[in-house]
Amino acid sequence: MLVKTIKDMKSIVKKLKEKGKSIGFVPTMGYLHEGHISLIRCSKKDNDVTVVSIFVNPIQFGENEDLDRYPRDIERDLQICRDEGVDFVFYPSADEMYPDGFSTYVEVEGLTNRLCGAFRPGHFKGVTTVVNKLFNILQPDRAYFGEKDYQQLKVIQKMVKDLNMNVEVIGCPVVREKDGLALSSRNKYLSEKERESALSISRALFEGKKMFEKGEKDPQKIISKMKKIISSYPEVKNVQYIEIVDPETLEPKKKVEKGDLIAVAVFVGNTRLIDNIKI
Ligand SMILES: Nc1ncnc2c1ncn2[C@@H]1O[C@H](COP(=O)(O)OP(=O)(O)O)[C@@H](O)[C@H]1O
Ligand SMILES: [Mg+2]
Repeated sequence: MLVKTIKDMKSIVKKLKEKGKSIGFVPTMGYLHEGHISLIRCSKKDNDVTVVSIFVNPIQFGENEDLDRYPRDIERDLQICRDEGVDFVFYPSADEMYPDGFSTYVEVEGLTNRLCGAFRPGHFKGVTTVVNKLFNILQPDRAYFGEKDYQQLKVIQKMVKDLNMNVEVIGCPVVREKDGLALSSRNKYLSEKERESALSISRALFEGKKMFEKGEKDPQKIISKMKKIISSYPEVKNVQYIEIVDPETLEPKKKVEKGDLIAVAVFVGNTRLIDNIKI
């Protein structure tokens, strides 16, 4: 069922709570793909009711980012949600979420300075603010986030812990195409040639992991090999970062250990893609 206003959504949630139903929540920006569907399936398994939100959150986009051209197809998304047995789709407008005069933000310090946060000032502030609003509206028992956006998952978990929020934040594994490319709505932007070059990211991540498994402990050796692989593809315009970090603090490692995270952000053409792997 499609719900467009906060008022309607809150009254549905109130009734569900009165009936003692557990609520699973999958926040998305729409243009759904198998990555989103994996989150929906996790939620369906754990909860009585599953709510998917579809909201392209303007305040998490920077000035020169892709807010205006972010892919949208609500009819297709609704069909996917029906097929997957989603109970409610919350689809508010930007005005509904941010009426005139809106002026309250939630910000997680520290964790958000690293990785993507260093290149996208204000991005995580936009994410934590909207997720906070969505949690207040939906009061979910559990919320599902993809590990593709690993830093986002950690930032949300930190917010929930620091602010004593009553929701369990669950991370779900990265879903990939057969050839390794992590699914993302932004893959839609890629031309055929760019799609080829986008493969460099997962190839480099798999190679980095393999180097560690063969005994390499020096992060710089792994990173420079990965950089070489990625830069060798013609449509790669800019490697924003390749880092090996502690999976909790996201601080760079001096010596690589099992369980560390290799994280990458790359521009392929004009499209910024991120991916990561745990080693
Ligand atoms: N390939 C994927 N595997 C697992 N989860 C994913 C994947 N892609 C996106 N997600 C998750 O779906 C949720 C909504 O992300 P969204 O921004 O709508 O999609 P995308 O990042 O693909 O553009 C986030 O929690 C994100 O981590
Ligand atoms: Mg995204």
